[in-house]
Amino acid sequence: MKKVRKAVIPVAGLGTRFLPATKALPKEMLTIVDKPVVQYAVDEALEAGIEHIVFVTGRNKAVIEDYFDLQPELVGTLERAGKTKQIELLEDLMPVAGSVSFTRQQAPLGLGHAVWCARDIVGDEPFAVLLPDMVSFGKTGCLAETMELYGVTGGNVLAVEQCHPSDTAKYGIVGRGADVVPGFEITGMVEKPAPAEAPSNYYINGRYILQPEIFELLGRHERGAGNEIQITDAMEHLLKQQPFYARPFTGRMFDCGSKSGFIEANVAFALAREDIRDSVFEPIREMVGLRRAEQAA
Ligand code: UTP
Repeated sequence: MKKVRKAVIPVAGLGTRFLPATKALPKEMLTIVDKPVVQYAVDEALEAGIEHIVFVTGRNKAVIEDYFDLQPELVGTLERAGKTKQIELLEDLMPVAGSVSFTRQQAPLGLGHAVWCARDIVGDEPFAVLLPDMVSFGKTGCLAETMELYGVTGGNVLAVEQCHPSDTAKYGIVGRGADVVPGFEITGMVEKPAPAEAPSNYYINGRYILQPEIFELLGRHERGAGNEIQITDAMEHLLKQQPFYARPFTGRMFDCGSKSGFIEANVAFALAREDIRDSVFEPIREMVGLRRAEQAA
C-alpha cells in the first residue's frame, strides 16, 4: 500500500456566503480565535503524517501565500522588543522549506476542477484533500482518523459524519455497506439527495484520501450540480473501478464557510483554550441568560 504523502488544500473559491468580508479577504484567512482557518487544516494534515501540501489558489488569494512566508520586518521588531514567545510561535507555524507548493485555478469552476489543478504536483500516488472551511474539532484530527482506516483498507477513504435525516439535501451522502472496522464500505454516493432518496444519513465531511486515477475522471470536465465540476461525480465514476470506504469522524466538523458554523467554531475553540476559557464563558453565559429572560418576558 502506497503511503499518503501529499495533501491538496483548495482555497480558490469565492466564499460568497461570507460577503462582504470575502470581497477582499479570502475566507480561509478568517480567524478562529487567533489562527486563520487555513492554519487549522495545515496542522491537521501534518498531524496525519502529510509531508507536502499543495494549495490551489485563485485571484485575491496572495495573502495566503504570504502567510506561509517569513516576515523579516515583523520578526526584527519582535526581537528588538524581546518578544521571544511570539517569535517561537511564528517559527513553529513556518512550514519546512520546499514542503509547500502553490498552483492556480484561474476560474472557480468547482471543487473537482480545483483538485484537478493539483494533478501534476501530486503525480501518480494517493493523496489527501482537506476542505479548509470544514474545521476539525476533537481529540484526534479528522484526517489522522481517516488515515487510520486507509492503513487497514488502502483504496479510497472518505471521512463522514451523520446529519439529521431531514438534512440530506444539504450534503454529499454515501451508502453504507459492510463494516470494515473502524468504518464501512461505501456502496454509492449521491450529491444532495432528498431525504426519501438518500441511501443513509452519512455525509462526506470534507476529508478525502483518493487514488490518482481520480485525475483522469476529473479531467473530463463534466459539469454537475450548480454547473460546477464536482468531485462527488468523479468519485461516483471511480467507485465502479475501485473500492471506497468511510471513516465516521469521532469528533465534530464545523462548517466555517457558513456564518453560524464559523461563530460556533470560535466559541468551541475559545472554550477549549485554557488561557481565555473563563473570560469567554462568563459573558456568553450572561448573554444566554439575558436572552432567556427576554424570551420569558
Ligand atoms: P465551497 O463551495 O465551500 O467554497 O468550497 P466557496 O465556493 O468559496 O463558498 P461559497 O459557497 O461561495 O460561500 C469548499 C472549498 O473548495 C474551494 C473553496 O475555496 C473552499 O475552500 N474551492 C471551491 C475552490 O478552490 N475552487 C472552486 O472552484 C470551488
